[in-house]
Amino acid sequence: MKDIRVGLIGFGTVGSGLAQTLLEQKDRLLRKVGARIILARIVDINLEHLPEQFKDAQLSKDVNDIFNDPDIDIVVELIGGLEPARTFLLEAIRHGKHVVTANKALLSIHGKEIFEAAGHNNVEVGFEASVGGGIPVIKALKEGLVANRILSIMGIMNGTANYILTKMTDQGAAFDVVLKEAQALGFAEADPTYDIEGIDTAHKLAILMTISYGKLVQLKDIHTEGISKIQPIDIDFAREFGCRIKLLAISRHHGSHVEARVQPTLVPESHMLANINGAYNAIYFTGDTVGNVLLYGKGAGKMPTGSAVAADVVDIGRNILHGSIGRVPALSYLPEHIGTPTITPMTQLCCPYYFRITAVDKPGVLSTISGIFGKHSISIKSVIQKSRQQNEPVSIVLHTHEASEAAVQKAIAEIDGLEVCTEPTVKIRFLVDEPR
Ligand code: HSE
Repeated sequence: MKDIRVGLIGFGTVGSGLAQTLLEQKDRLLRKVGARIILARIVDINLEHLPEQFKDAQLSKDVNDIFNDPDIDIVVELIGGLEPARTFLLEAIRHGKHVVTANKALLSIHGKEIFEAAGHNNVEVGFEASVGGGIPVIKALKEGLVANRILSIMGIMNGTANYILTKMTDQGAAFDVVLKEAQALGFAEADPTYDIEGIDTAHKLAILMTISYGKLVQLKDIHTEGISKIQPIDIDFAREFGCRIKLLAISRHHGSHVEARVQPTLVPESHMLANINGAYNAIYFTGDTVGNVLLYGKGAGKMPTGSAVAADVVDIGRNILHGSIGRVPALSYLPEHIGTPTITPMTQLCCPYYFRITAVDKPGVLSTISGIFGKHSISIKSVIQKSRQQNEPVSIVLHTHEASEAAVQKAIAEIDGLEVCTEPTVKIRFLVDEPR
């Protein structure tokens, strides 16, 4: 049988994970696929540090060496970022190559262009590694859950943010110190603000929503809040409420419209998602046929992500060998059945809230604040006030009953405008009504 020949662009953390996986699993893959999967070419800007065992591949600094090689079947793009990754993928597709990428930022912004180009050229696009690291979430959605209308998606989808929150919760570690650890472990994005500000999670949610709902969701459709304003004091208060703070992606499909947001969330300690720790990811789907499904695994890192990229290579390799290219549509739904989503405005959201207000400690402040909440029909469930040091502003923490986001936004703007309030209020939503 014919060999499957792969050209790799980018020998970084994930690229080296793919190369190592294909080498270590060579014999097993031969027994499973019935053909050799060969890493035939590697292109990188810096080839000097390439380990000896990968030097059987043809090495080059010029991507055209891959595009112009008629024997390359699959081009794997693992350089990340928008450009030149977009151009490289489009160029590979134009040359009739199947493509595999882990580039969630690119797919959530330029996905339409890439999938359309692939459709016109009759080539496949694999993107398993773009969401959930080593968790086979894309394949689960496209194949295992194909006979479902997906009703909701909820997940922890950024290893770096989850690693930071876990270490802050369990060890009282400082944000900056833990971020450096996550970077050293190879979890973080080149620009770690993507991890911390929820942008990477939003990229991934856009991809999952698209293949779940058959609506082309883009990054701009997703309301995104990160964890950079979370302080150890919030983690301590969360504990007092029996919760842990997690960066969650949340989406629900209401038929005519969909909710989509990424936000730090107070999750009850008894909930499964509260117990997903470190760089692990978990994605919780509800399907109308299957009910609830939880997928859990390593969401970042060289070998887990390498495993996911290798799975795409094998899938496409099998389709090439059996003449079944395009058997499973790239976005699960056939292109003519992919529509545009109607996104529910955030102001329509209703849930209980946590507010940490920083204010001068003097008579009348609490009653002014509670008066503002009352005026906006926000009902307070409990209040905790903790002083820091004498003459310093105090933290007033309020837990509300279910309140409307529209009212909350108005109330907070009013409170933050008070002279007695010395810092912007921190607002965290509680998780409600979710499967346990
Ligand atoms: N920076 C990402 C994370 C890598 O921390 O989860 C995997 O997409």
